Amino acid sequence: MSRHLLSVDSLTRDSVNHLMHVAARMEPIAQRRQVTRVLEGAVLGNLFFEASTRTRVSFHAAFCRLGGGVCDTTGFTFSSMAKGESLYDTSRVMSGYCDAIVMRHPDQGSVAEFAAATHVPVINGGDGPGEHPSQALLDFYTIDKEFARLGRKLAGAHVLLTGDLKYGRTVHSLIKLLSLYDPMRITLVAPPGLEMPDYLIDLVASRGHRVEQRASLADDYRDVDVVYTTRIQKERFTAEMSEGFSLSRDFTVDRAFMDKRCGRDTIVMHPLPRDSRADANDLDVDLNGDPRLAIFRQTDNGIPVRMAIFATLLQVDELIEKDLRPVRWFVPERVGVDDAAL
Ligand code: NCD
Repeated sequence: MSRHLLSVDSLTRDSVNHLMHVAARMEPIAQRRQVTRVLEGAVLGNLFFEASTRTRVSFHAAFCRLGGGVCDTTGFTFSSMAKGESLYDTSRVMSGYCDAIVMRHPDQGSVAEFAAATHVPVINGGDGPGEHPSQALLDFYTIDKEFARLGRKLAGAHVLLTGDLKYGRTVHSLIKLLSLYDPMRITLVAPPGLEMPDYLIDLVASRGHRVEQRASLADDYRDVDVVYTTRIQKERFTAEMSEGFSLSRDFTVDRAFMDKRCGRDTIVMHPLPRDSRADANDLDVDLNGDPRLAIFRQTDNGIPVRMAIFATLLQVDELIEKDLRPVRWFVPERVGVDDAAL
């Protein structure tokens, strides 16, 4: 694996498999049964210049669970970038303080520009509509775990990606990551104007996958193994696009869609947040408590996967087993009140 994690382009099937393996070893720590201190003394710089809950907090928590400490800054207002500081200078300064840096920024390519100015490992936590590689890794880890539970195979699987495929950086990274594996079937359903960029479709097709674009969810998806739906990224729309845009209910994944069009074991994923405003028509809450809804298992998986990324980049991945102790505090059996017993 390269020094930074900026794009799925730097990953190979072997490096992804290694991260999945390390993530699985992190599970007892992520599930709060054991503690480790392998990153004791290390400091993470968590720089978020765009809204975030799970990426920011789960990177922070993952670093803490490895025994490290975290310094963070949120938004431009409280950063010297508001005084006109360049990415280069910010990068050099932060590198003098921190052993690893996670950055989210609204401009595509900005995290790579920041990383070019430092030898300290940098992780792209989302660069505008560009990429979100750690999300793709945790999505892939989720698919792998869910398939193992259901006795399914990745080779030949059918994955439906729907929602905002144009600006959704999570689907850009995920489709690249899936393309590293044996041929699959990938179906894309986006509202008009929000289709997956052609260069990504061409890349995936050139690697032997069967990619099909369909106009609507009103179709037969009974052989789909994974429905991966995304929020409309309105914050990235141009003024003309925003004018009068509203997402038709036809693109909503809800219980009726799952019962009528999909299989009994089709899993539903979403990078979250889901937009809960009534007119957003994002993933419906009527699937809450349904075992097919994997979204909170997916968010939980963010911890072991991000721990694996840190452990690998900071080269302590071989030390985990030697450093485990049992936890001493109270941990509930299940963390969510609607969590399905699987
Ligand atoms: C996504 C993002 O920021 O790209 N969220 C996340 O990190 N899980 C998806 C989104 O904002 O819609």
